[in-house]
Amino acid sequence: MKTYIVGISGASGFVYGKRVVEELSKHGKVNLIVSSTAYTVMEKEEGITKSEFLRSLNSNVEVHSNRDLASPISSGSRLIKTEGVIVAPCSISTLSAVANGVISNLIHRVCDVALKEKKRLVLLVREMPYNLIHIENMKRVALAGAVVMSASPGFYHRPRSVEDMVNFVVGKILDQFGLDRNLYKRWREDETQ
Ligand SMILES: Cc1cc2nc3c(=O)[nH]c(=O)nc-3n(C[C@H](O)[C@H](O)[C@H](O)COP(=O)(O)O)c2cc1C
Repeated sequence: MKTYIVGISGASGFVYGKRVVEELSKHGKVNLIVSSTAYTVMEKEEGITKSEFLRSLNSNVEVHSNRDLASPISSGSRLIKTEGVIVAPCSISTLSAVANGVISNLIHRVCDVALKEKKRLVLLVREMPYNLIHIENMKRVALAGAVVMSASPGFYHRPRSVEDMVNFVVGKILDQFGLDRNLYKRWREDETQ
Protein backbone atom coordinates (compact mmCIF):
# COMPACT_ATOMS: atom_id res chain seq x y z
CA MET A 1 0.00 0.00 0.00
CA LYS A 2 1.38 3.40 -0.98
CA THR A 3 1.87 5.95 1.78
CA TYR A 4 1.31 9.70 1.55
CA ILE A 5 1.81 12.59 3.94
CA VAL A 6 -0.86 15.30 3.90
CA GLY A 7 -0.68 18.59 5.79
CA ILE A 8 -3.70 20.84 6.14
CA SER A 9 -2.70 24.38 7.14
CA GLY A 10 -4.81 27.36 8.11
CA ALA A 11 -5.61 28.89 4.72
CA SER A 12 -9.14 29.08 3.41
CA GLY A 13 -10.24 25.89 1.64
CA PHE A 14 -10.14 23.17 4.30
CA VAL A 15 -12.30 21.17 1.88
CA TYR A 16 -9.33 20.71 -0.45
CA GLY A 17 -7.32 18.92 2.24
CA LYS A 18 -10.33 16.93 3.37
CA ARG A 19 -11.05 15.71 -0.17
CA VAL A 20 -7.37 14.88 -0.83
CA VAL A 21 -7.35 12.72 2.31
CA GLU A 22 -10.63 11.04 1.32
CA GLU A 23 -9.31 10.14 -2.14
CA LEU A 24 -5.84 9.00 -1.07
CA SER A 25 -7.10 6.93 1.85
CA LYS A 26 -9.42 4.86 -0.38
CA HIS A 27 -6.40 2.88 -1.60
CA GLY A 28 -3.38 4.16 0.32
CA LYS A 29 -2.18 5.04 3.79
CA VAL A 30 -2.33 8.72 4.76
CA ASN A 31 -0.26 10.32 7.50
CA LEU A 32 -2.27 13.44 8.27
CA ILE A 33 -1.15 16.61 10.07
CA VAL A 34 -3.62 19.44 10.69
CA SER A 35 -2.49 22.81 12.06
CA SER A 36 -4.41 24.41 14.92
CA THR A 37 -5.51 27.31 12.68
CA ALA A 38 -6.71 24.81 10.07
CA TYR A 39 -9.12 23.45 12.67
CA THR A 40 -10.38 27.01 13.28
CA VAL A 41 -10.89 27.49 9.52
CA MET A 42 -12.58 24.08 9.34
CA GLU A 43 -15.11 25.05 12.01
CA LYS A 44 -15.98 28.25 10.08
CA GLU A 45 -16.09 26.66 6.63
CA GLU A 46 -17.36 23.15 7.26
CA GLY A 47 -19.40 23.72 10.42
CA ILE A 48 -17.96 20.64 12.10
CA THR A 49 -15.88 20.14 15.25
CA LYS A 50 -12.40 18.65 15.44
CA SER A 51 -13.72 15.44 17.01
CA GLU A 52 -16.39 15.09 14.30
CA PHE A 53 -13.71 15.49 11.64
CA LEU A 54 -11.40 12.96 13.29
CA ARG A 55 -14.27 10.47 13.61
CA SER A 56 -15.02 10.84 9.88
CA LEU A 57 -11.57 9.56 8.86
CA ASN A 58 -11.19 5.95 7.76
CA SER A 59 -8.72 3.46 9.25
CA ASN A 60 -6.10 4.17 6.55
CA VAL A 61 -5.57 7.62 8.04
CA GLU A 62 -3.11 8.14 10.90
CA VAL A 63 -3.24 11.58 12.50
CA HIS A 64 -0.04 13.16 13.84
CA SER A 65 0.17 16.17 16.12
CA ASN A 66 1.59 19.25 14.40
CA ARG A 67 3.59 19.86 17.58
CA ASP A 68 5.27 16.44 17.47
CA LEU A 69 8.61 17.12 15.84
CA ALA A 70 9.77 13.67 16.98
CA SER A 71 7.02 11.92 15.02
CA PRO A 72 8.24 8.94 12.91
CA ILE A 73 7.39 10.84 9.72
CA SER A 74 9.69 13.71 10.74
CA SER A 75 12.72 11.62 9.79
CA GLY A 76 14.09 11.43 6.26
CA SER A 77 14.72 7.73 6.80
CA ARG A 78 10.95 7.18 7.03
CA LEU A 79 9.71 9.92 4.74
CA ILE A 80 11.86 8.68 1.86
CA LYS A 81 9.73 5.51 1.77
CA THR A 82 6.54 7.51 1.14
CA GLU A 83 5.17 8.89 -2.14
CA GLY A 84 5.72 12.42 -0.87
CA VAL A 85 4.00 15.34 0.82
CA ILE A 86 0.96 17.46 -0.05
CA VAL A 87 -0.01 20.60 1.84
CA ALA A 88 -3.56 21.57 0.87
CA PRO A 89 -4.45 24.29 1.47
CA CYS A 90 -1.04 25.85 2.13
CA SER A 91 -1.11 29.14 4.01
CA ILE A 92 1.29 31.95 3.24
CA SER A 93 2.77 31.41 6.70
CA THR A 94 3.57 27.75 5.96
CA LEU A 95 4.84 28.66 2.48
CA SER A 96 7.18 31.21 4.06
CA ALA A 97 8.47 28.70 6.61
CA VAL A 98 9.20 26.15 3.88
CA ALA A 99 10.80 28.73 1.59
CA ASN A 100 13.12 29.88 4.35
CA GLY A 101 13.87 26.58 6.05
CA VAL A 102 12.29 27.66 9.33
CA ILE A 103 10.84 24.63 11.08
CA SER A 104 8.50 25.23 13.98
CA ASN A 105 5.97 22.44 13.47
CA LEU A 106 5.62 19.01 11.87
CA ILE A 107 4.08 20.31 8.64
CA HIS A 108 7.12 22.56 8.11
CA ARG A 109 9.44 19.68 8.96
CA VAL A 110 7.94 17.15 6.52
CA CYS A 111 8.05 19.75 3.73
CA ASP A 112 11.70 20.51 4.48
CA VAL A 113 12.56 16.80 4.59
CA ALA A 114 10.69 16.11 1.33
CA LEU A 115 12.82 18.74 -0.40
CA LYS A 116 16.11 17.47 1.00
CA GLU A 117 15.24 13.85 0.14
CA LYS A 118 14.07 14.89 -3.36
CA LYS A 119 10.59 13.53 -2.74
CA ARG A 120 7.51 15.07 -4.34
CA LEU A 121 6.22 18.13 -2.46
CA VAL A 122 2.99 19.75 -3.62
CA LEU A 123 1.91 23.04 -2.04
CA LEU A 124 -1.61 24.26 -2.80
CA VAL A 125 -1.06 27.91 -1.91
CA ARG A 126 -4.18 29.96 -1.12
CA GLU A 127 -4.15 33.73 -0.80
CA MET A 128 -5.35 36.64 -2.87
CA PRO A 129 -3.83 38.93 -3.99
CA TYR A 130 -0.17 37.96 -3.68
CA ASN A 131 2.47 40.44 -2.55
CA LEU A 132 6.05 40.25 -3.78
CA ILE A 133 7.18 38.30 -0.68
CA HIS A 134 4.59 35.59 -1.44
CA ILE A 135 5.74 35.43 -5.06
CA GLU A 136 9.41 35.31 -4.09
CA ASN A 137 8.69 32.49 -1.62
CA MET A 138 6.81 30.53 -4.29
CA LYS A 139 9.81 30.98 -6.57
CA ARG A 140 12.18 29.78 -3.82
CA VAL A 141 10.24 26.59 -3.12
CA ALA A 142 9.78 25.90 -6.83
CA LEU A 143 13.54 26.22 -7.39
CA ALA A 144 14.10 23.87 -4.44
CA GLY A 145 11.91 21.25 -6.14
CA ALA A 146 8.36 21.81 -4.89
CA VAL A 147 5.31 21.86 -7.16
CA VAL A 148 3.44 25.09 -6.45
CA MET A 149 -0.26 24.86 -7.21
CA SER A 150 -3.01 27.40 -6.76
CA ALA A 151 -6.55 26.76 -5.68
CA SER A 152 -7.84 28.04 -9.03
CA PRO A 153 -10.17 25.61 -10.80
CA GLY A 154 -10.51 25.66 -14.57
CA PHE A 155 -13.88 26.24 -16.18
CA TYR A 156 -13.45 24.45 -19.51
CA HIS A 157 -14.93 21.30 -17.99
CA ARG A 158 -18.11 23.29 -17.21
CA PRO A 159 -18.39 22.85 -13.44
CA ARG A 160 -21.95 22.86 -12.16
CA SER A 161 -21.25 22.87 -8.43
CA VAL A 162 -18.67 23.82 -5.82
CA GLU A 163 -17.96 20.08 -5.58
CA ASP A 164 -17.06 20.00 -9.30
CA MET A 165 -14.67 22.93 -8.77
CA VAL A 166 -13.05 21.34 -5.71
CA ASN A 167 -12.73 18.02 -7.56
CA PHE A 168 -10.92 19.75 -10.42
CA VAL A 169 -8.25 21.08 -8.03
CA VAL A 170 -8.02 17.79 -6.10
CA GLY A 171 -7.77 15.86 -9.38
CA LYS A 172 -4.86 18.07 -10.47
CA ILE A 173 -3.10 17.37 -7.16
CA LEU A 174 -3.58 13.61 -7.57
CA ASP A 175 -2.27 13.86 -11.16
CA GLN A 176 1.06 14.92 -9.63
CA PHE A 177 1.25 11.47 -8.03
CA GLY A 178 0.14 9.61 -11.16
CA LEU A 179 -3.32 8.93 -9.71
CA ASP A 180 -6.30 9.25 -12.04
CA ARG A 181 -9.61 9.08 -10.16
CA ASN A 182 -11.78 10.68 -12.85
CA LEU A 183 -12.41 13.68 -10.62
CA TYR A 184 -12.56 16.08 -13.55
CA LYS A 185 -13.05 15.91 -17.28
CA ARG A 186 -9.80 16.36 -19.15
CA TRP A 187 -9.50 18.72 -22.09
CA ARG A 188 -11.21 17.18 -25.19
CA GLU A 189 -11.50 13.90 -23.29
CA ASP A 190 -14.51 12.69 -25.30
CA GLU A 191 -12.75 12.95 -28.64
CA THR A 192 -11.11 9.91 -30.18
CA GLN A 193 -7.34 10.11 -30.14
C1 LIG B 1 -10.96 31.92 8.68
C2 LIG B 1 -9.51 32.13 8.32
C3 LIG B 1 -9.13 32.12 6.99
C4 LIG B 1 -7.79 32.29 6.64
N1 LIG B 1 -7.46 32.25 5.31
C5 LIG B 1 -6.17 32.33 4.94
C6 LIG B 1 -5.80 32.15 3.57
O1 LIG B 1 -6.61 31.94 2.69
N2 LIG B 1 -4.48 32.20 3.28
C7 LIG B 1 -3.52 32.39 4.23
O2 LIG B 1 -2.33 32.39 3.87
N3 LIG B 1 -3.84 32.57 5.54
C8 LIG B 1 -5.14 32.53 5.91
N4 LIG B 1 -5.49 32.68 7.24
C9 LIG B 1 -4.44 33.02 8.21
C10 LIG B 1 -3.65 31.79 8.67
O3 LIG B 1 -4.52 30.89 9.31
C11 LIG B 1 -2.53 32.23 9.63
O4 LIG B 1 -1.52 32.94 8.91
C12 LIG B 1 -1.90 31.08 10.39
O5 LIG B 1 -0.83 31.59 11.15
C13 LIG B 1 -1.40 29.99 9.47
O6 LIG B 1 -0.72 29.02 10.25
P1 LIG B 1 -0.48 27.55 9.72
O7 LIG B 1 0.13 27.69 8.35
O8 LIG B 1 0.45 26.94 10.71
O9 LIG B 1 -1.80 26.87 9.67
C14 LIG B 1 -6.82 32.51 7.63
C15 LIG B 1 -7.21 32.50 8.98
C16 LIG B 1 -8.52 32.30 9.32
C17 LIG B 1 -8.91 32.29 10.78
